[in-house]
Amino acid sequence: MIRNLLVSTLLIFIIAAGCKEVSSFQEPLDLSQIAYHPNPVPIKVPKGFPQLPLVNKNPQTEEGIALGRKLFHDPILSADSTMSCASCHFAHLAMTDGKALSKGIDQKEGLRSAMSLVNVAFYNEGFFWDGRVKSLEEQALLPVEDSIELHNSWDQLVDKLRTHPEYPVYFRKAFGIDSVAQIDKYMAANAMAQFEKTLISANSRYDQIERGEEEYTPDEKAGYEIFFDDSKELPDGECGHCHNVPLMTTNEFLNNGITYAEKASDFPDLGRGGFTGSQFDNGKFRVPSLRNIALTAPYMHDGRFKTLEEVVDHYASGGHYSPSVSPLIKPLNLDETQKRQLIAFLNTLTDLKFVQETQQSEVY
Ligand code: HEC
Ligand code: HEC
Repeated sequence: MIRNLLVSTLLIFIIAAGCKEVSSFQEPLDLSQIAYHPNPVPIKVPKGFPQLPLVNKNPQTEEGIALGRKLFHDPILSADSTMSCASCHFAHLAMTDGKALSKGIDQKEGLRSAMSLVNVAFYNEGFFWDGRVKSLEEQALLPVEDSIELHNSWDQLVDKLRTHPEYPVYFRKAFGIDSVAQIDKYMAANAMAQFEKTLISANSRYDQIERGEEEYTPDEKAGYEIFFDDSKELPDGECGHCHNVPLMTTNEFLNNGITYAEKASDFPDLGRGGFTGSQFDNGKFRVPSLRNIALTAPYMHDGRFKTLEEVVDHYASGGHYSPSVSPLIKPLNLDETQKRQLIAFLNTLTDLKFVQETQQSEVY
């Protein structure tokens, strides 16, 4: 009896294994039978924002964005299927991770703080804190293989995408491929870049006030005037020279005096200089946008400041000496009320509608 049971169980296993064998030898899905009608979705440039380049080698489509959004949030991207791009770029933190330094799948800490991806479509001076990458399409190839981020290999990931139950159809609809063999890393990166370019935030309280829909409180107004050197009575904050409208950054590479260095070679992180090789660039970092700044603590390329109060204290004090520090960094003469007013203005840069809409469209 027991022997019979054993034999029949064994038989079931053999049959099941046989079936599995058969299914993996199935003909690859004929993708050409699936409709390919990409729906163009040009980026809507908010009023006053810079125009985008006329030539777009990776034009946005509804289907490309949907694929990019799915990939961006899918832990399939990492070697152990635990992390995706969204693990370090959360919508509720305006696409940052809330950590001073980001950690990847092996719990190893990187050297820099995750950047916000808000309005990335409008940055064209190079991506990352040092500007070392030219385009979003190029950037999206990097985290997958970065040993302290997703620590995967594109060969493995592309294999998984080709045999996945859903992705081949997404790739067909986005890029018109006829067979899964055509899926490659460049298509995946292009799709992620298309998704990232939809992350547009231009509806903060500041924008509403600029459009005449709202008005500043007296404290916010004073903060605005300090930020943009706009009043004869209040001290100049000099902020607007580097964090300029409408993106709240000039996108330049500058040194805002957070690190003391006697010589150009003394910076622990060379920043822009590490990429250009010019010692005049040592200690310079890309001026980050201050849009949604209340949501993106901790601050600076290494997350050294926990609060906006600490940031404002840094600027008010005049910062630290180094050979590349900008002449705009000098003691500001702000009293405690004026520091508070400056922060009240910074808080008007939060766009909760962007956060809500981006959160709602997150895919898990
Ligand atoms: C482990 C955390 C982590 C993961 C995972 C991660 N990022 Fe990032 N991201 C960062 C950090 C840190 C930086 C800044 C790096 C630097 O400047 O060297 C950054 C910067 C960026 C930038 C540059 C933004 C700018 O304005 O220059 C883009 C774009 C970006 N990430 C997209 C992605 C995409 C797409 C993925 C997934 C394929 C991803 N990130 C996965 C941490 C992460
Ligand atoms: C000389 C140009 C310059 C001036 C003036 C300046 N900043 Fe900055 N700001 C920068 C740079 C560059 C960084 C990034 C530095 C780094 O991380 O190493 C930065 C970073 C910041 C950050 C952190 C952003 C983030 O995402 O981590 C805040 C907040 C900030 N600045 C606010 C201000 C305020 C408020 C003022 C005026 C009191 C001001 N800045 C004046 C260049 C400037």
